[in-house]
Amino acid sequence: MKKIQKFFFTAGLIFAAACLILASCTKEGPQGLQGAQGPTGKDGTDGKDAAETCKLCHAKEVVDRIATEFQLSKHFWGAAAFEEAGNTTCGPCHVQKAYVYVCANNTSTAFTFNATTNKWINGYTVPASETIGALGCFTCHTSLHTTYAMSDLTLTNTAAVPLTMWGGAKTVNLTQGGGSSNLCVKCHQPRPMTCAYDPAGRLLNYDSVKNFPSVIMYDSTAGAKNTMVRPTYRMHIHYGAVGAVYAGTGGIEYPGSVSYTSSPHTTLATCGDCHMASPMTGVAGGHAFNMRNGIETVLGSSTSWNFNGCNVEGCHKSSPIDANSAKFKATRTEIKGLLDALATKINAAGGGTDILHVDATTSNLWAGISTKNYDGYMDIYSSSTNPSGYWRDPANTSAINMAKPKFPKLLMVQLGAIINFQFCLREYSLGIHNTQYVRALLTNSVEAMNAAGL
Ligand code: HEC
Ligand code: HEC
Ligand code: HEC
Ligand code: HEC
Ligand code: HEC
Repeated sequence: MKKIQKFFFTAGLIFAAACLILASCTKEGPQGLQGAQGPTGKDGTDGKDAAETCKLCHAKEVVDRIATEFQLSKHFWGAAAFEEAGNTTCGPCHVQKAYVYVCANNTSTAFTFNATTNKWINGYTVPASETIGALGCFTCHTSLHTTYAMSDLTLTNTAAVPLTMWGGAKTVNLTQGGGSSNLCVKCHQPRPMTCAYDPAGRLLNYDSVKNFPSVIMYDSTAGAKNTMVRPTYRMHIHYGAVGAVYAGTGGIEYPGSVSYTSSPHTTLATCGDCHMASPMTGVAGGHAFNMRNGIETVLGSSTSWNFNGCNVEGCHKSSPIDANSAKFKATRTEIKGLLDALATKINAAGGGTDILHVDATTSNLWAGISTKNYDGYMDIYSSSTNPSGYWRDPANTSAINMAKPKFPKLLMVQLGAIINFQFCLREYSLGIHNTQYVRALLTNSVEAMNAAGL
């Protein structure tokens, strides 16, 4: 409207100026009376104001606020997306385009056998063209800038997540809150353990690990063929144990005195309920995704928590949680004790020297979670990742490695216990994610080792 009025105003001025010029150039007699004013011209139609739809999001309290919060998220400042750029295997959880690709294509997590190479292949990969992109708004809200409506904020994945650790044989589906937790679990899930030989790359048969606890898994004196998973510094399920533990699945569920049930969180709460609490306290809550106002490990640093997401109607409003509540403090103390006990049991294989790796620095994401600061790795020599490792790497023939003591024999139940230890250490919350499941895995693992005479 404004533009149109301005047009008529300007046109009027030009007309008047033109009349003046005409008047000054003519030699005719005095001007006659002014005629009656003509009818007003029609209003032009309003132009489309693109800025209005943009303002739904591009406003101080929407994108601007959230972008600021997001700067405090490790999704934003962590280096993994840069380190794994170009990597077709690591991309699905570390790189934006790869994540969007596996979600859009429902990429299978199954393993397939390649008869030519005589190897099993982990199918959970993306084409090389899809291996870039830092984690950001468009990773989780992939529809942004398609219709320019608020509905563009829909999450990239709310569908059930077939676990890559299990080659898809187990699935996590957290349907509460519209399935928003499935967004997170798609990345925050454990990775597969594979067999070293005969044929290589085959997914570890976790059912055998559970059902044949006393069978030998690895024995340095028995030759390669007797080895399912080759012990190395990184004999592990990677870092995303949370998703599986939260859903109460994926561990090696040895029978024992504690049954495998899940805490109410599993079906009632979403990841965002606790991790995106509002209002924020320091770096905790909102799109910073932290629970605690302190980054990285719990080693001596800040222990102020954001419980705003816990203490809401339908959850813990009537008896609010704080850092000293029994529900929080006693649970974490109990689980830490169980973790320490399982570590001691696993380390007994070393006959006096730990087989679990210790790292008491802040580069250990799980420092402070167990009393001795385990990180879930094995203390096996690796020239690059663990140069001071105590135990010999069975597949490394360097002089420095060969001078080290042979890694001890492991039974299936010991491997299962190591997997369960990694699950419960790396879920990071000392049981808050799913107290009952963690308690069952830790307790029953010790009992299964006792039963196997260890
Ligand atoms: C549904 C929410 C939403 C709407 C509607 C929306 N945007 Fe965005 N836009 C975003 C988000 C989120 C970002 C990323 C912000 C960041 O990275 O900090 C973004 C980023 C941008 C950027 C920066 C470049 C980029 O793509 O990252 C531009 C330019 C932009 N928007 C323009 C527009 C315009 C123009 C409109 C209206 C025609 C619009 N946006 C409507 C959410 C929206
Ligand atoms: C695209 C994969 C992906 C999605 C989706 C995702 N995350 Fe993450 N998340 C990661 C990665 C990778 C890191 C570690 C980044 C790094 O170190 O560079 C991380 C880090 C974190 C951290 C910090 C961990 C630490 O060690 O300090 C939290 C907390 C977290 N994510 C929670 C969530 C929640 C809650 C959701 C769902 C709302 C979610 N994430 C969705 C991949 C993802
Ligand atoms: C199934 C998803 C998934 C895949 C595939 C995956 N990662 Fe991760 N990775 C994660 C998640 C989730 C985290 C963050 C865990 C946390 O901090 O709580 C992580 C963390 C890491 C970190 C630690 C970053 C830090 O902050 O210290 C490194 C390094 C890493 N991954 C490397 C790799 C490499 C290399 C590959 C491929 C060989 C790979 N990842 C494949 C999910 C995955
Ligand atoms: C790791 C995944 C993830 C990333 C990255 C992410 N978001 Fe979100 N976002 C979510 C989740 C989960 C919700 C809650 C959705 C729900 O509960 O349905 C959400 C909700 C929102 C909302 C609506 C609710 C609100 O708080 O106003 C906006 C707006 C939004 N995000 C903007 C952004 C912007 C801007 C960025 C980048 C700076 C971003 N998001 C990055 C996961 C993410
Ligand atoms: C009941 C509350 C609650 C819910 C729900 C919850 N978490 Fe957590 N989470 C925690 C607590 C407490 C910690 C410990 C944080 C710490 O020590 O800084 C934690 C830690 C984490 C961490 C690593 C530590 C970090 O640096 O923040 C990740 C990653 C994580 N959670 C992801 C998830 C995912 C993914 C979901 C959903 C599947 C989820 N959480 C659901 C409470 C929760």
